[in-house]
Amino acid sequence: MGKEGKIVLVSNRGSYTLKETGGQTEVVPAISGLVSAVEPVLKERGGVWVAWGGREAADPGGPGLRMRVPPEEPSYFFAEVPLTAEEIRLYYHGFTNGALWPLCHYFLEKCRYDPLEWAAYRQVNNKFALAALAEAGEGDTVWVNDYHLALVPSILRRHRPYLKQVFFWHIPFPHYDLFATLPWARALLRGLLGSDIIAFHLVDYSHNFLQAVNKLLDAPVDYNSLTVRWNGRKIMVPAWPMGIDFEAFQKLAREPGIRQRAEDLRRQIGVEKIALAIERLDYTKGILERLVAFERFLEEAPEWRGRLALLQIAVPSRTAIPAYRQLRSQVEEAVGRINGRFSEGSYRPIHYFWRGIPRRELVSYYLAADLMLVTPLRDGLNLVAKEYVASRVDGTGVLILSRFAGAARELREALIVNPYDIEGMVAALRTALAMPLSQQKQRLFRLQEQVRRCDVRWWIAGFQRALLEREIKEDESVRRTIRLSGYNRIPSTSAVDA
Ligand code: UDP
Ligand code: G6P
Repeated sequence: MGKEGKIVLVSNRGSYTLKETGGQTEVVPAISGLVSAVEPVLKERGGVWVAWGGREAADPGGPGLRMRVPPEEPSYFFAEVPLTAEEIRLYYHGFTNGALWPLCHYFLEKCRYDPLEWAAYRQVNNKFALAALAEAGEGDTVWVNDYHLALVPSILRRHRPYLKQVFFWHIPFPHYDLFATLPWARALLRGLLGSDIIAFHLVDYSHNFLQAVNKLLDAPVDYNSLTVRWNGRKIMVPAWPMGIDFEAFQKLAREPGIRQRAEDLRRQIGVEKIALAIERLDYTKGILERLVAFERFLEEAPEWRGRLALLQIAVPSRTAIPAYRQLRSQVEEAVGRINGRFSEGSYRPIHYFWRGIPRRELVSYYLAADLMLVTPLRDGLNLVAKEYVASRVDGTGVLILSRFAGAARELREALIVNPYDIEGMVAALRTALAMPLSQQKQRLFRLQEQVRRCDVRWWIAGFQRALLEREIKEDESVRRTIRLSGYNRIPSTSAVDA
């Protein structure tokens, strides 16, 4: 990150999950886009990942586990922030995923604004901030991630005014009109403004954020340079869409074992064309709308019955929240209905799995799929779309992508759809199934160029460049201070706030 010093990465979920089995703590590597993106940097530079381990702590004030990881080749630390069952209920299932998640994805009717949950959010953010402060030394950079921890930056700033801080908000930042419905909107913005950089996937999200701070906090903002002035500091609010490790996916997609698995999968499903959808079982992902579109397609295109199957992987997610449980029953009911209507002989139109899939197996699914359906009703970015593009090493395949996924801004050669428009989705399926190989290859080539160019290294480099620029400015300002005050002792760069 910065010129020197280590990285203290802070996020709700980290690179490891801790499980209690028979009185023993099992340490399991976690899979997520964030882990694949940032773990290599931590491994190379060293540092600490401060995160909740995903388990319930018995003692509210007890210390968390702190260990060197990965166990086989230790290169950085994992520091657990222990959360009690009550904190998990009120902070994680409550405020973050019962208020902020639906709000930022434009599901206002699902938002529950509960003062008790807000109090727990503040308390847990304080816990994370204190854990980060215990790890961060002079010259280090603290990199906080996502909507779970919006208050951490200002707590850090209060305790250590000169600490370098970066924040990445991984989900959409909604329009001001929506955001302003949150009773604690101002406090949340003030919390974020403790950071030096607050980055988003899209310029639209940066603009929404700037509008919110301008209208709610009266802070002067500049929509061109994407900056805001706050408490004498100039804060950058850039847009850097997250990338994936393109080469790693290409490499996996060339492995004979993974290719064989893809062929086996095709043989098992036994149809001419396979459409694939993979996501957490979340109401933002548009699973029900997609199933309805698929059903309508089979009604309107009987020639495809028996020849086209949908492989739907729904990863269990946030299952303690009623909206997620309800969605599961609705999805499974729709799958049952469609399979009941169109199955014939050995043909089953939808192959549905309620489970998560490890990365290597995931690539074999990407390889087996003629079409990929990524049709969320709203999504900050969507990494699965990029992973499908990267894995198609033979240059064929069609990506059907929702215009409401952040990734649609980059992946312009996809078939862009409105997931609320069922007829439009049906038409996109027809287009995809009829698309000649030459056109598939042309489109995929351009998509791959984009995903390769703006990959995960490019994403990380954005932070590094911005911090470096900031440090150079700080150095200049230090020199100016020295000249003006006649000091002969050079203070550390971290002692000056740009
Ligand atoms: N993923 C996975 N196994 C699965 C489904 C998804 O490892 O069965 C990974 C996928 O490779 C991607 C991430 O989970 O890197 C999902 O990120 P995305 O941005 O698509 O959606 P999110 O779940 O963050 O909303
Ligand atoms: C989104 C969020 C992440 C979160 C992930 C999985 O990608 O931006 O911060 O970790 O969903 O959700 P979970 O609630 O299981 O952490």
